[in-house]
Amino acid sequence: MRETWIVGAASSRYGKMAETAREAATRVAMEAIRDAGLEPKQIGHTFVANCFGLAEHQAHVGPLINSGLGIPEVPSVTVESACSSSSAALHEAFVQVAGGFVDSALVVGAERLSHLTTQTATTFFAIAADYPFETRNGATFPGLYATLASAYRAAYRTTPEMFGAIAIKNHANAARNPHAHLQKEISMETYLASPIVASPLRLYDCCPFSDGAAAVVVSARESIGRPAREPLVVRASARAGAVTGLHDRPDLLGLPSTRTAGARAFRQARLEPREIDFLEVHDCFTIAEVLALEDLGFFPKGTAARESGDGVTARDGRLPVNPSGGLKAKGHPVSATGVGQVVEIFEQVNGRAGGREVPRTGTALAHNVGATGGSCSVHIFSRR
Ligand SMILES: CC(C)(COP(=O)(O)OP(=O)(O)OC[C@H]1O[C@@H](n2cnc3c(N)ncnc32)[C@H](O)[C@@H]1OP(=O)(O)O)[C@@H](O)C(=O)NCCC(=O)NCCS
Repeated sequence: MRETWIVGAASSRYGKMAETAREAATRVAMEAIRDAGLEPKQIGHTFVANCFGLAEHQAHVGPLINSGLGIPEVPSVTVESACSSSSAALHEAFVQVAGGFVDSALVVGAERLSHLTTQTATTFFAIAADYPFETRNGATFPGLYATLASAYRAAYRTTPEMFGAIAIKNHANAARNPHAHLQKEISMETYLASPIVASPLRLYDCCPFSDGAAAVVVSARESIGRPAREPLVVRASARAGAVTGLHDRPDLLGLPSTRTAGARAFRQARLEPREIDFLEVHDCFTIAEVLALEDLGFFPKGTAARESGDGVTARDGRLPVNPSGGLKAKGHPVSATGVGQVVEIFEQVNGRAGGREVPRTGTALAHNVGATGGSCSVHIFSRR
C-alpha cells in the first residue's frame, strides 16, 4: 500500500443553506482541490456521499459535481452508509489511492434537508433503521438512542448533569467554530430545563437537522502537488458492520461496530488510545459520545459519562473530544458529517481553528457511525 495523505480540506457553514447540495458540494470541492495545490484534472476519482438527494429531486449527483469542476470525464460514485456515508466514501478513496489505482481522489459529502419539516426529516432518517422491526413500529432515531441511554443509565450510576456537561462542552466549542450550526453556549440550567424529546433525551442531548457540505482531497505521498497546508498522514482507515436492529443485539451498552472498527484502526496504525491527542466522535446524541469513548477504548465501560462530567474531554482537558462542537452543536448534515470531522482535524493541525485550538495535534481520530451502528468508520491521522 502507498502512504496516503489528506492534502486539502474545505467545508461550508452547517445550518440552513441557500445553495442546493450539488452547488455547495461543487463549491467546497473546488476549495479543497485548490487547498491541495492541485488542478481538478489531477483528480482520478470522485467519491460522493449524498443520502437524501431525493429530497431535492436530484440523485446521481457525482457527474454533476464533476461537470461543475470541469472534469466530466472523471468517474464518480455515490456511497450510502446512512450517517457514516462520507467516512465510508473516504475509506473507498483511501483504498483506491493506497492501492495505486489513482494518484488523487476527491471525497465530498453534502446534504440539504432544512426545507423539510421536522416530522418529514425524522421519517426520512428512520428508514436507515431496520424498517420492518423498528421503523414500521414507530421507532425514530431519538427513540432508538433514548433506548441506549436508558440501558446505560440503568446499568451505571449516572446523573443528568453528566450528560448535560457533554452538551455544554460541545455547544461551547461550536460557539468558537464559524462552520457550526448552533454557535451558542448553553448553561446547565438551560440544559436541565429543556424539553424531553424521547425520554430520557432532552432537546440539548440531540443534534439538530443541518444542511452542509464538506470535502477533502486524498493523494498518494509521491504524487502530491504543492499543498498550501500541512498534510495529514492517513495512519488507519477501518470500517465495520453490525446487526442493525437493537432487538437483535446481545447488549445495549455499546455499539459493536465501533468496537470492531476501532480495534482494526488501532491495529493498522500501530497506535494505542493513549497515543491519540484529540478526537472527533459521532455524538448524534450525548449518549453516543459516551458509548464511542468507551467502545474505542479511551475509558473503561461505565465511566465515560462521569469523566466527561469532570471535564476530562474539554478542549483544554486531558483528552479533547469534539473541539468542532460535534454533531450536537456543529451540526449533522448526514452525508457531510464524516468528512467534516476530517476537515476539523485538518484545521486544528494547520492552526486554522482560531479560538478552539486543542493543545496537542500530533495524532487524531475520527469516528463516524451509520444509524445506531449498523456501520461505522474509524480513521486515524498523524502529522508527518
Ligand atoms: C430535537 C428536535 C426534535 C428539535 O426539532 P424541533 O422541535 O422541530 O425544532 P425546530 O427545528 O422547530 O427549532 C426550534 C429551535 O430549536 C433549535 N434547535 C432545534 N434542534 C436543536 C437541537 N438539537 N439542539 C439545540 N437547539 C435546537 C433551533 O435552532 C430553533 O432555534 P431558534 O428558535 O432560536 O431558531 C430535532 O432537532 C431532532 O429530531 N433532532 C435529532 C435529529 C436526528 O435524529 N438525527 C439523526 C441522528 S442518528
